[in-house]
Amino acid sequence: MSCQCAPENRTPDPKQVKLGEVFAKYKGVKGALIPVLQEAQDIYGYLPADVLRQISLELKIPLSKVYGVVTFYAQFHLEPRGRNIIKVCLGTACHVRGGAKIFETIQKELGVADGETTEDLRFTLESIACIGACGLAPVIMVNDDTHGRLTPDKVKAILAQYE
Ligand code: FES
Repeated sequence: MSCQCAPENRTPDPKQVKLGEVFAKYKGVKGALIPVLQEAQDIYGYLPADVLRQISLELKIPLSKVYGVVTFYAQFHLEPRGRNIIKVCLGTACHVRGGAKIFETIQKELGVADGETTEDLRFTLESIACIGACGLAPVIMVNDDTHGRLTPDKVKAILAQYE
């Protein structure tokens, strides 16, 4: 029986396997950087530095250029994201009806500022302009759920619904 710690017995990291498949799919394809970044982010939930290095090597694109693209587009994230994404609307209608107070209440409740993620990776908090539900102002979204006509005292019970 061979030693369990021998490299050939180690289960490959499933995320690395998937990333390898993405590289294979885009091998030799022009303009692959953005789709590869998108797929890598789908796999990891964000873009770890090590993954960006691998992308740079595989696509033969300088790392500085890869970072340039990642930091240019708001859709890409260099830090881990929470399991639940809270978007607090600060558009005009929501602002007028107390959106800022809701935002402040959530920040205090979670101990994070705009764009930050809680240490336990449960929530990422973001502010956003109008989400098109002004009739329900003030509004927040948690993942795909819209919560409207909010008051600060409702915040705690809403957050408690998300693990
Ligand atoms: S301003 Fe908040 S939904 Fe429109």
